[in-house]
Amino acid sequence: MSHQDSQWWRDAVIYQVYPRSYADADGDGVGDIAGIRAHLGHLADLGVDAIWMSPWYPSPMADAGYDVADFRDIDPAFGTLAEAEALVEEAHAAGIRMIVDIVPNHISSEHPWFKAALASPDAPERDYFWFRPGRGPNGDEMPTDWVGEFGGTTWTRVPDGQWYLHLFTPEQPDLNWDHPDVRAEFESILRFWFDRGVDGIRIDSAALLLKDESLPEVRDGEPHPFHDLDGVHDVYRAWRRVADEYGGDRALIGEVWMPEVERFANYLRPDELHAAFNFDFLGCAWDPALMRECVDRTLHAHKAIGAPATWVLSNHDVTRHVTRYGRQDTTFSFDNNLDGTPVDLELGTRRARAAALLSLSLPGATYIYQGEELGLWENENIPPEQYQDPMWGRRGHSRDGCRVPLPWTGDTEPFGFTTGSPWLPQPAEWKDRTVQAQTGDPSSMLELYRSAIARRRTEEGLHQPAMSWIDAGENVLAYTRGDRFACVVNMSGAPIALPDHESLLLASGPLDGDRLPPDTAVWLRLL
Ligand code: GLC
Repeated sequence: MSHQDSQWWRDAVIYQVYPRSYADADGDGVGDIAGIRAHLGHLADLGVDAIWMSPWYPSPMADAGYDVADFRDIDPAFGTLAEAEALVEEAHAAGIRMIVDIVPNHISSEHPWFKAALASPDAPERDYFWFRPGRGPNGDEMPTDWVGEFGGTTWTRVPDGQWYLHLFTPEQPDLNWDHPDVRAEFESILRFWFDRGVDGIRIDSAALLLKDESLPEVRDGEPHPFHDLDGVHDVYRAWRRVADEYGGDRALIGEVWMPEVERFANYLRPDELHAAFNFDFLGCAWDPALMRECVDRTLHAHKAIGAPATWVLSNHDVTRHVTRYGRQDTTFSFDNNLDGTPVDLELGTRRARAAALLSLSLPGATYIYQGEELGLWENENIPPEQYQDPMWGRRGHSRDGCRVPLPWTGDTEPFGFTTGSPWLPQPAEWKDRTVQAQTGDPSSMLELYRSAIARRRTEEGLHQPAMSWIDAGENVLAYTRGDRFACVVNMSGAPIALPDHESLLLASGPLDGDRLPPDTAVWLRLL
């Protein structure tokens, strides 16, 4: 294996499979591993380098599987461990690497550790969590007023009077990462999956693990009690040592939401994580100046520590970008709920097509969230009584709209996803967005992704580590990679002339004569 291969995470195209919604083989309306295996060909045809699998472990599904009851098995709704192992093998045979999702900040309240902790105030397992007495004369006030990551309070009282901490739902008790058993257990879990041939680990809520044990309130200008504590880096240094035991081609990829780029970059120091999701880019407005600043900021921060940048447009937590880019406010933030504001899906789709060429030609790795390659939009018409996301009751926003089952074939729901009834409703208009309908249609989103990913593999310039901005007019993002490749994204309101070029490699939409229309991107072979 060449050095380039062994550092595959540096420039891979990584596809996120959300197993509940990829494909259902047993007809219960929920996706499963058998469905993924049956549709692995879609990912091979798309040309992705790796799959990131959202949690598939046994779980009461209080948070769609991010409440894990056993990290060494598979939830029966998804299949068996043997099927998971077979999928890893089949993916490898198809040239696709496999990344599993590990959730270290918390476990399910149904996990044996938590059950043991609840059984008695003296159980040693209590120390694996954050059990504390309450405040006030009767101890009936929570130990802190911390606000949870989904909104709401962060402590729940148990019958013996103590409270336990949960930064997410009460079904997700936070682990105490100061305890050596917790550290040892997760290192063992990493080995369990690496021993099964898994190529990488996606680390959920990576910056939250450590807490200030004096439990101060969150105050402006003071160190945060549970976000990005310095000690968290020791955890990832230890994880890196585990990953490195496997020959240096196993990657650790962090979910690190962090506005300060310097703090973010600390996670990517050479002895820590290999990569982290770029939420700065994901949340950035469709705006040339802001986008350019974001790209510069990203590249600068990563270069300083020799880490690869990542480019992420969507995932299972955020509003799909076809919808975001079709709104007047094109940013994304959990604190700025834009649900129900007007959406121009045609505009959003045009921009999403241009964004695909942007994110697939910037230096670094690109992440694709399932359905993005089909141009799916957020389903904003799910009846609230069908919402399953625990965020809905706490923040008044549900993430279910981006988690709707994929449309594969046919003209009506369930579009080949299941033989039963899909766990969330699919928009009727998705009949034009199925894999079947788009295959072979050169103007489809799917064929755009296929062509771009194929070109990315062979294009010399796209293997160069750097990019250089070029001037192609106001409100235009344009850059070269190597001597002969350029990407031009027209974010202005009017058609523009293209820079001199030998040929047009790929366009996100039809040109206007030889001019590039607004919200359209091209890849060019330069003279
Ligand atoms: C991460 C996951 C999200 C989950 C949360 C709690 O942010 O991406 O889906 O709800 O962690 O585990």
